[in-house]
Amino acid sequence: MDEKQKAHALARFEAVLDAQAARVAAMRTQGDFIRYEDLDTLVIGVCGGDGIGPAITRAAARVLAFLLDGEVKAGRVRFEDIEGLTIENRAACGKAIPADVLARLKACHVILKGPTTTPRAGDPWPNIESANVAMRKELDLFANVRPVKVPSQGIDWMFFRENTEGAYAVGSQGVEADDDLAVDFTVTTTGGTERIVRLAFETARRTGRTRVTAVTKANVIKTTDGKFLRIAKAIAAEYPEIAFDDWYIDIMTAKLVDEKRRRDFQVLVLPNLYGDILTDEAAEFQGGVGTAGSANIGKRYAMFEAIHGSAPRMVAEGRDKYADPCSMLRAAAMLLSHIGRADAAGKLERALDLCMYEEKAHVITGRDTGATCEQFAAYVMETVQRL
Ligand code: IPM
Ligand code: MG
Repeated sequence: MDEKQKAHALARFEAVLDAQAARVAAMRTQGDFIRYEDLDTLVIGVCGGDGIGPAITRAAARVLAFLLDGEVKAGRVRFEDIEGLTIENRAACGKAIPADVLARLKACHVILKGPTTTPRAGDPWPNIESANVAMRKELDLFANVRPVKVPSQGIDWMFFRENTEGAYAVGSQGVEADDDLAVDFTVTTTGGTERIVRLAFETARRTGRTRVTAVTKANVIKTTDGKFLRIAKAIAAEYPEIAFDDWYIDIMTAKLVDEKRRRDFQVLVLPNLYGDILTDEAAEFQGGVGTAGSANIGKRYAMFEAIHGSAPRMVAEGRDKYADPCSMLRAAAMLLSHIGRADAAGKLERALDLCMYEEKAHVITGRDTGATCEQFAAYVMETVQRL
């Protein structure tokens, strides 16, 4: 590395530090969680994304509109369709989220969002930042809440993945110092860690859960993971009725497959990248990523999505109408619960359990041997009416 390259790398690092310091300052002045009950009209944005996104999001939005029909008619809830978060559009303007789409997202309170294609090196698209990651940062959706349940095996996990920091904070701003040396950054802040850990403990307390587990690699990643773990331990002391323990991510991935131990875990709180990885593994026990919904919670906004990608291959093969909408339907149930519509959320959850596992009158196979996502949505609505 010559002096010029070194100066360039240092300048990049300085820019990262400045941006993160500004984020820390902004977090300090942040207010409390929005109170949906104080709103005259709650606005739900529906954003289809791309690939199979529009098909499965449309199906889930139909079910949501059906469940909220009375409130829509009374003017208490309004749906906003938000077009334009497609890979073609994002590539054309060279932005993870086009400015007009972002403005429309910010005019909503909660968002139901379909999967979006994340470009990677070698794709026909410019290697822009993931729309998911950008939306989590732009709307400060710091908590990625991912439940996984397998009642027959006693599995009932709730993952609290930190969603704005860690390896993702500046994931697209690493530094290629020279041809031989590349450096990425991992970020842990006090405010960012406190808010996710506190939300995990508060949720445990509110839902009668008795154990919170922090997952890090603090034995090796000593500075950032070390800080995360230290803060988690300090906050745990404020919740004496809740047991706290901590595991390293490597052994945690093993313990999730340990039939004797895995049912003991209840609430898990972890930095961004470990949360990304562990929640895919966890969802597999429940029937795969297609069955899992996910909530991205911030103080002002919240966004609900599937945990899987946009499956462009299904679209290329003309199979998008047979895509499984269950992840988006689970996300819709989480949305209802988050905005305080517990009754509707409970009905949707129950109907999904019946349709997905118990009755299975229509089965999604991903091809024309099974139901379309529209047929499945109709089945779910008809099931809700029978409850
Ligand atoms: C997820 C996804 C995203 C992530 C991708 C699509 C950027 O895997 O929501 O878990 O890594 O967070
Ligand atoms: Mg993931």
